[in-house]
Amino acid sequence: MVSILITAGPTREHLDDVRFLSNGSSGRMGFALATAAVAAGHRATLVLGPVELAPPIGVTVLPVVSALEMQAAAAAAFDGCDVLIAAAAVSDWRPRTRAVGKPPRQPGSLSLELVPNPDIVAGLAQRKGRRVVIGFALESVAAGMPAAIARGRAKLQKKQLDAVVVNLHDTIGSDAAEFVLCHGDGRDEVLPKVDKMVAAAHVVAAAVQLWRTRAAS
Ligand code: C5P
Repeated sequence: MVSILITAGPTREHLDDVRFLSNGSSGRMGFALATAAVAAGHRATLVLGPVELAPPIGVTVLPVVSALEMQAAAAAAFDGCDVLIAAAAVSDWRPRTRAVGKPPRQPGSLSLELVPNPDIVAGLAQRKGRRVVIGFALESVAAGMPAAIARGRAKLQKKQLDAVVVNLHDTIGSDAAEFVLCHGDGRDEVLPKVDKMVAAAHVVAAAVQLWRTRAAS
């Protein structure tokens, strides 16, 4: 049994106790990965940002709200895992300050100061040892798949990943999409217009195979 840690869903970066910055991630890809992991007989832990859907059964869920909370929960769970699959849509920035309560609306425009959030998967990959670390690269539809693969591969290098799953941003909220699994050894596996469940099972199987090869060496 392989222990698989998955980050999923969006993060919320609060301006005050009511307002926040976020994105439209549904968490579906992470749920599909966790379901595929459990179906294949593995242990799945989801570090999960705020989503509408109920998580799959048989999965340990660590609920979080902000990127900093996701980073802390993922770091704590990372030590006990064999594989990390980062499917979360982490907010790139957060407001520098968070106000208390709900400050009333003011006339005129308002400037927000945003500071960058940490790159969670890149930080963990730096200390991965023999663990397998896989990321997602959701790229602009306008760029097209060849450019998306190039960008995904650049992320694979920069973040020290073992593989990256490239897809186009029209995937958000949908059930099926084209996925390309770019392996660290240079292979690109194209999964044409498949259901997220099919893609998830493929990604989990590839991660487990890589882990078993490493663990045996
Ligand atoms: O946003 P970006 O395209 O760089 O995301 C690529 C990968 O990095 C995804 O796997 C995502 O979950 C992860 N990521 C992260 N922390 C961030 C930004 C992205 O773990 N702050």
